[in-house]
Amino acid sequence: MKNILFLYSTVDGHTLKICRRLQHVVEQAGLQVTVAALRPDFELEAFDTIVIGASIRYGKHRPEVARFMRAKRAILERKPSAFFSVNIVARKPNKNTPETNPYVGKFLHQIGWRPRHVAVFAGMLDYPRYGFWDRQVIRFIMLLTKGPTDPESVVEFTDWEQVEAFGRRISAL
Ligand SMILES: Cc1cc2nc3c(=O)[nH]c(=O)nc-3n(C[C@H](O)[C@H](O)[C@H](O)COP(=O)(O)O)c2cc1C
Repeated sequence: MKNILFLYSTVDGHTLKICRRLQHVVEQAGLQVTVAALRPDFELEAFDTIVIGASIRYGKHRPEVARFMRAKRAILERKPSAFFSVNIVARKPNKNTPETNPYVGKFLHQIGWRPRHVAVFAGMLDYPRYGFWDRQVIRFIMLLTKGPTDPESVVEFTDWEQVEAFGRRISAL
């Protein structure tokens, strides 16, 4: 049976939540799934398809994501692979595709990796969970971009239909 790997890089757990939904879709298609946190020494050889998901914080995916992709580029190019990014800018309909989102294209171009499938998902806003300064900064960004600024707001912007559609594409790889 084919074994699909989902590696995630998360701070607050939303990218993992998306991986769990993708896992559900892919398992429904009869494939075997492994979900794991991205670690530099993770061995990819045993897997048939590799999917990496990472969230954005202050304009960037975490540096270990780029390091991992560079280190594993040969195997990522040899096997069917996919990448998805999670960020709050993607809540805007004109910024929710790999072509229109400000982070994804630039990031993959810098790495030089061309996954077969790329997706961008809108993430989660959870003010009560953030530390004081993070909360203020994000509220200010939301003020500028016409998002929620109430410090009690908890909003999940993720389009789960879009996530499931991506899961079906992964299953077909
Ligand atoms: C401190 C902080 C900084 C963030 N910076 C950005 C950003 O620069 N651009 C963006 O689109 N989203 C930004 N976000 C939103 C996150 O990408 C979003 O909350 C996502 O769901 C986080 O996923 P995770 O829980 O897997 O880390 C930020 C969130 C926090 C808490």
